[in-house]
Amino acid sequence: MYNSIIKGTGYYVPENIVTNDDLSKIMDTSDEWIQERTGIQQRHFATKGKDTTTNMGVRAAEMAIAKANINKEDIDFLIFATLSPDYYFPGCGVLAQKELGLNTIGALDIRNQCSGFVYALSVADQFIKTGMYKNILVIASETQSPALDLTTRGRNMAVLFGDGAGAVILSRTEEVGKGILSSHLHSEGAYAEELAIITPGVGKKWVTELIKENNPEDISYFPHMNGQFVFKNAVVRFSEVIVEGLKHNNLTEKEIDLFIPHQANLRISQFIQQKFKLSDEKVFNNIQKYGNTTAASIAIALAEAVEQKRIKENDLVLLAAFGSGFTWGSVVIRW
Ligand code: UT7
Repeated sequence: MYNSIIKGTGYYVPENIVTNDDLSKIMDTSDEWIQERTGIQQRHFATKGKDTTTNMGVRAAEMAIAKANINKEDIDFLIFATLSPDYYFPGCGVLAQKELGLNTIGALDIRNQCSGFVYALSVADQFIKTGMYKNILVIASETQSPALDLTTRGRNMAVLFGDGAGAVILSRTEEVGKGILSSHLHSEGAYAEELAIITPGVGKKWVTELIKENNPEDISYFPHMNGQFVFKNAVVRFSEVIVEGLKHNNLTEKEIDLFIPHQANLRISQFIQQKFKLSDEKVFNNIQKYGNTTAASIAIALAEAVEQKRIKENDLVLLAAFGSGFTWGSVVIRW
């Protein structure tokens, strides 16, 4: 069995910055409300005709490939996590493969929302551990802004989300005790509708029905969240899956060097930080700048943490996510 290490990281966010004050001009909200409840100060929104989920992911991937110091020809599999694909089908994996000019390697799409990057890393790790692949490109990218209801009606969701992409190159190592030590994945479909976009889809209403009905009261094609219920579940599941990851490796919270949580809400991250008694320098947050970028959030944060030299050789890095599905998971890495 081999191990997998993160050899290179990259990220990309669109140029267009939208502040809380910008949002308060188009809906009944305020910088104070948004910062107090979520910690978010601004987010980046994609520009139509310029940024797509695929091309942002490709820009992040190009940075990760350069940092890993490998050739594109060395990549033997591609995994793309997103809930906001450019097309209903095919997925962004094949589009990224085309844009990057990769040969006919396999391209797999992951749709596990906020846990997408953690799921993608775990899948990639299994392929490397078994010896099937040597270098896997994992991309997580989201263009969520076009799907938001940017009016007072949609303010509970609209102020939370942003666009952007992160990527890593996961590579085979024969060093023991290095790289991804374990990953733990969970889901609870009983709560699928608590954080979701329900239509268009074949389950409730297809796009042709929406057009035919042309009902301005129908908001089923906007994202919906039962915020407090999601919050309560998030803090419980985050904690459980962190403990699971640590226990599996006979580690304690004291040994964590850097915790990178999915950037859902600064209050959730602070709750976890307090619960596990982690000092400020042991927790990485960037939700203030980017909002919640769903699958991309941990990938962007990891790339920024590397860029800011917050991670050293042999550090114990813990990633944890929770989100729509519900899905949640953790990855324990010895850097
Ligand atoms: O990434 C996936 C995982 N996501 C999460 O884990 C998010 C979990 N949930 C949360 O973080 C929080 O529930 C939110 C930040 C989304 C909302 O905070 P909350 O404290 O749960 O607020 P609320 O939804 O209960 O709303 C409180 C009040 C309401 O007004 P009333 O009924 O008290 O008069 C809302 O209408 O705040 C109002 N409100 C707003 N006011 C100003 C809701 N959104 C806004 C807004 N600006 N943007």
